[in-house]
Amino acid sequence: MPQPILVTGGAGFIGANFIRQWLAAEEAPVINLDKLTYAGNLRNLEDVSAGPGYSFVQGDINDRGLVAKLLAERRPRAIVHFAAESHVDRSIHGPDDFIRTNVNGTFALLEEARAYCAGLGPAGGEFRLVHVSTDEVYGSLGPEDAPFFESTPYAPNSPYSASKAASDHLVRAYHHTYGLPVLTTNCSNNYGPHQFPEKLIPLMILNALQGKPLPVYGDGQHVRDWLYVADHCAAIQIVLARGRVGETYNIGGGNQRRNFEIVETICAILDELRPGDPVVPHRQLIKFVADRPGHDRRYAMNSGKIEGELGWRPKETLESGLRKTIAWYLAHERWTQEVTSGSYRQWISVQYSL
Ligand code: NAD
Ligand code: DAU
Repeated sequence: MPQPILVTGGAGFIGANFIRQWLAAEEAPVINLDKLTYAGNLRNLEDVSAGPGYSFVQGDINDRGLVAKLLAERRPRAIVHFAAESHVDRSIHGPDDFIRTNVNGTFALLEEARAYCAGLGPAGGEFRLVHVSTDEVYGSLGPEDAPFFESTPYAPNSPYSASKAASDHLVRAYHHTYGLPVLTTNCSNNYGPHQFPEKLIPLMILNALQGKPLPVYGDGQHVRDWLYVADHCAAIQIVLARGRVGETYNIGGGNQRRNFEIVETICAILDELRPGDPVVPHRQLIKFVADRPGHDRRYAMNSGKIEGELGWRPKETLESGLRKTIAWYLAHERWTQEVTSGSYRQWISVQYSL
């Protein structure tokens, strides 16, 4: 049996998509270490979890004893680190968990990876830690600014992006100081199946289906660079396989869109697919609401490095990706009902003052 890889946060949106894609393409087994916060859901993996290549461990990346034991016993050849608190709005309401997981948790993981790697002797050079990060570490762009490069200075603006920036710096330092074989990816906004409906695209889809308001923050002119999740997962696989140790790679969709345009496109697709919904045309549901404090105006990525060095390119257009995403939510009502019960309702009532 080939050596496994350890994935942290594999029960979340991107981690679960990554594990599914990995198991379809690779022989190496996957160990999924996930705390199962509100965002972690084992249903995201129910179609692959019975297979021989997959095992799950419920636990916190801050639990150094657990991480050390997993590394010593399972001897992975790589760690792909997704585990994080990921929602900007929640970081504004309560940053504590963001510091605890994104900063302290990444530090704990790095310390244990360093000890494990040192224990491997010369074979430690073959080990890899891929740290999955975000474009938000670069701050906000003006309308005429060039997209972010890997060399763009860090200027994080939210507690979330500051915590991710801190983790990126720790990862970098562990390579520079200790020679830990790390790679960092900084990616733009993902969308696709299994995304928790606190984020823009799934929230708008689910609200529109139920005839609920579609809350657009501020003037709706904020720009994000959208990437279909499968394309992001493919990029991470390529970086793990062929990326240069110590480097960072920007990953973007090449799909800059204003939020208002995204919401209008979702509404137009739903008008076509769901003419019998409670409110049609769905765009009547759009409602401008108070802006997010400190809201970054524009993100856009220059993906030239990963495209030129590693030959990665996104396969999905925004239109094709949105259609696939909407089709997935329409076909997975039970998933939606489960994740939107309980604590989700409380979050929605706090965030949207309902
Ligand atoms: P998510 O919130 O859907 O999932 C996060 C997962 O991490 C959950 O399964 C959760 O249970 C787990 N987790 C949280 N704290 C943990 C802890 N202390 N120990 C172990 N597991 C823990 O997030 P996502 O959208 O899938 O994002 C995954 C990663 O990708 C994050 O690091 C995020 O910063 C990064 N990223 C996300 C996007 C995006 O658009 N969603 C874009 C770029 C980068
Ligand atoms: O850029 C990468 C980042 O993308 C990731 O690092 C984060 O983990 C991920 O959550 C995402 O952050 P954003 O804040 O950009 O995503 P979100 O889906 O929360 O919001 C997208 C845009 O839509 C943003 O400009 C805020 C706006 N928005 C969001 C919600 C939830 C609204 O207008 N209304 C809403 O109800």
